[in-house]
Amino acid sequence: MTQLHSPKHILVTGAAGFIGSNFVHYWVNMYPDNKIIALDALTYAGNRENISSLESQQNFHFVHADILDTDKIETLMQEYQIDTIVHFAAESHVDRSIHGPDAFLKTNIEGTHSLLKAAKKVWLDNDIESHRFHHVSTDEVYGTLKPDEPAFTEKHQYLPNSPYAASKASSDHIVRSYHHTYGLNTTISNCSNNYGPYQFPEKLIPLIIANCLDGKSLPIYGDGKQIRDWLYVDDHNRGIDLIIRNGEVDNTYNIGGNNEWTNIDIVNRVCELMDELVPLNSISHSPSPNSYKELITYVKDRLGHDRRYAIDATKIQSQLNFHPQETFETGIRKTVQWYLDNESWWRHIMDGSYRQWIEKNYD
Ligand code: NAD
Ligand code: TYD
Repeated sequence: MTQLHSPKHILVTGAAGFIGSNFVHYWVNMYPDNKIIALDALTYAGNRENISSLESQQNFHFVHADILDTDKIETLMQEYQIDTIVHFAAESHVDRSIHGPDAFLKTNIEGTHSLLKAAKKVWLDNDIESHRFHHVSTDEVYGTLKPDEPAFTEKHQYLPNSPYAASKASSDHIVRSYHHTYGLNTTISNCSNNYGPYQFPEKLIPLIIANCLDGKSLPIYGDGKQIRDWLYVDDHNRGIDLIIRNGEVDNTYNIGGNNEWTNIDIVNRVCELMDELVPLNSISHSPSPNSYKELITYVKDRLGHDRRYAIDATKIQSQLNFHPQETFETGIRKTVQWYLDNESWWRHIMDGSYRQWIEKNYD
């Protein structure tokens, strides 16, 4: 396959968050000669510890900055001769967007626009032709599917339902407009739900593992029959890598692993792994249930809860030869084991502000 772009100096936004931190680990490993500028505002979701093991490397540089600071982004792009931006930074949690949408509109829409303005000025105003702006987006922009509807293709209408999804949809449109209007070399990926190491424990899978270990209830919203399509985080990052190098400018690629699960089935599967890996008689919950499944508790549904997401990844499979390396079985086992091996990591981030969020969201 002809390579269309070959990054050398790459700026990664949101690099201390879940997917961004996995991405920079992946990139340093794959392309040790590349220079990586890892930028993050370190909001509640950003954790410098996720990337601290990379900070001693010569080609890796962490910058504590906000994507809304356009001047700073321009300066960094010039200073480090950035040829590729991979944009993960966002407010990412649907439940938080229901309680407080403002931060989502600010970061996800205005923040993305701020980056685009900097990229236009530094690259286009200086006639730098070899550049890429890759925008990381989500399947949630497409809205919700009925049980028998075909999965989302790239041509599916945008019908975002939550403030989070609407803010991501808006940012996708603005990225697209910067290609059509100004000629910026942009690509977009829309991926399904990710799971893996370093995911903040407000999201379903890490929350369930943490609550099992603490003997707390496992909250299932509504009837638990909502469907999500799960992909291991490194497979998402492999997809982004393929798009940056070989993807066509002005194209959108869906990324997914054809792996639909109801929420209740996911929680049951995590409980089974926990039963196997941390048998209940080995920890001090009392009275001891027979299985972690006994901690499952149905709670009030999320407002406007989308029923089903499913990704049709035919385009990236056929055009860029993308195939996930993890099966769900290998990926979820690895993930549960990672949270067990890194208990201090998630306990450390469950600080006061996070506990307040839990109290607000789960009554
Ligand atoms: P995350 O919340 O774990 O990480 C987001 C990171 O962005 C954090 O480190 C945060 O500090 C940083 N950030 C927030 N506002 C910032 C700002 N103004 N300036 C600089 N940094 C800022 O999110 P994630 O799950 O890693 O998601 C990353 C991206 O992938 C998002 O754009 C999200 O929409 C997209 N995505 C996520 C999933 C998923 O399942 N998690 C699926 C598809 C797409
Ligand atoms: P989440 O991890 O928040 O991702 P998203 O909303 O982006 O899909 O939630 C995944 C699914 O799990 C979603 O349908 C909401 C549901 N869920 C629960 O049932 N209980 C919970 O405590 C959480 C956090 C999520």
